[in-house]
Amino acid sequence: MPIDTRQIQAIVFDAYGTLLDVSSIDAYLINTFGEDKATEIAKHWRQKQLEYTWLRSLMHQYVDFYTLTEHALLYALKATDTAAETSIIRDTMSQYYHLKVYDDVSPTLARLSEKYKLAILSNANPSLLEKATAYNNIDPYLSEILSADILGQYKPAPSVYQLAEKAFQLESKEILFISSNTWDIAGASAYGLQTCWLKNRQNGLLEELGQQVNLEINTLNELTLVLG
Ligand code: LAC
Repeated sequence: MPIDTRQIQAIVFDAYGTLLDVSSIDAYLINTFGEDKATEIAKHWRQKQLEYTWLRSLMHQYVDFYTLTEHALLYALKATDTAAETSIIRDTMSQYYHLKVYDDVSPTLARLSEKYKLAILSNANPSLLEKATAYNNIDPYLSEILSADILGQYKPAPSVYQLAEKAFQLESKEILFISSNTWDIAGASAYGLQTCWLKNRQNGLLEELGQQVNLEINTLNELTLVLG
């Protein structure tokens, strides 16, 4: 079903890989661990971070996103046979507070915030999101920073997407959810939000999870053309 722009009153964004560029950590990884290992560490780190959110939700063994990300880093170091002192691990983790937004983020949020309420809906802890949005000066555009942390469960649990509905007191179809992560699009669609897949970030394929994708865009700027 195509997007129904007349209904949309709020726009909700995923954080990592959608607004925040996780590859902005790569230069630090190369400097710290060397070029050969950095690519492998980054690959394992991102993969395990995702898997651990799903596994911990299923196991009912919640730990916050920062802790979980550190566990994923420990796995990545182990998988690549990389010895690292505690101070290096701490320093690597702290890079997560300084991830940069993609180039198209600030102008798009500025434009859309003139007409819509905007929010982030993320698995990350509120402190991580608040620091990252302030670091990139995008906090003035956001009415809400919504975190799965309050529920002790990660996306794609339906209760996490429901946070957006509750925060804005809107019906699910009045909210457009934007993510580059295809599993996240599937989760938001299963919950009933209108969905927009930002496909150029990772150039992946849509999942076979029965999701409805109401809009596909290549760059975030395209949203301003569709939504004014
Ligand atoms: C987020 C990650 C998983 O929730 O993209 O922000």
